[in-house]
Amino acid sequence: MQLDIVRPSFRCPRLPAAFDGIRIAHFSDLHLGFYSRKSVIARLAEAIGRETPDLVLFTGDAVDSEADALREYLPLLASMNGTLGKFAILGNHDYMTRPDLVADMLKVAGFQVLRNGSALVERRGEAIAIVGLDDGLKGFPDPAKGLGGVPDGLFTLLMMHEPDYADTAAAYPFDMQISGHSHGGQVRVPLIGAMLTPPGARRYVMGAYAVGERAMPLYVNRGIGETHLPIRFLCTPELTMMTLRSGNA
Ligand SMILES: [Fe+2]
Repeated sequence: MQLDIVRPSFRCPRLPAAFDGIRIAHFSDLHLGFYSRKSVIARLAEAIGRETPDLVLFTGDAVDSEADALREYLPLLASMNGTLGKFAILGNHDYMTRPDLVADMLKVAGFQVLRNGSALVERRGEAIAIVGLDDGLKGFPDPAKGLGGVPDGLFTLLMMHEPDYADTAAAYPFDMQISGHSHGGQVRVPLIGAMLTPPGARRYVMGAYAVGERAMPLYVNRGIGETHLPIRFLCTPELTMMTLRSGNA
């Protein structure tokens, strides 16, 4: 199975100059335990190692239907590093298993797991915030709580499993949202597009969008693993290596 590395770039007016050019490795939807292939996860870890990103962000669905499936992948997940840290959220499939156990294992692998919580990341005396919300289908996302520890006016990146939540998030002071969950439709038909997308990924399926009146950037990663059917057709697993630029274009 191939791994596509997609390299979008976003202009973020509130991003501090110290973070100009920050490189983020974003992946999603491992669905471990469902026809997962160690080779794909190993390739993902190798690619992240080669890219030496500043941040590693994982937007949920570590496992498909059994929390324990994550255990044997912990060394690979532990090998993924960003110079400024690594963060994860849970997805609906994680919630359908034992979410606390999934979160604990992700912590063992070195991820800071954000569940309606935030973290500040500092670089050369300036800071940005990362907020991670609970899953929107099986959990209880609380943006006000997630933003609780974030000082006013700080550039804030939102990690949220379901991309369609961007319509809600755009009303809060998030500067951008990154998501997964859609699997890009998993099976894509030429000229028609995604064959099936789950609830929570009906409006925003893959790639970059500008959401709401203030055009909040949203990026939807196509994911790594499979669910329901062990096939991905015209929808290669994706590692996103995004670059954020500060200031106005
Ligand atoms: Fe999902």
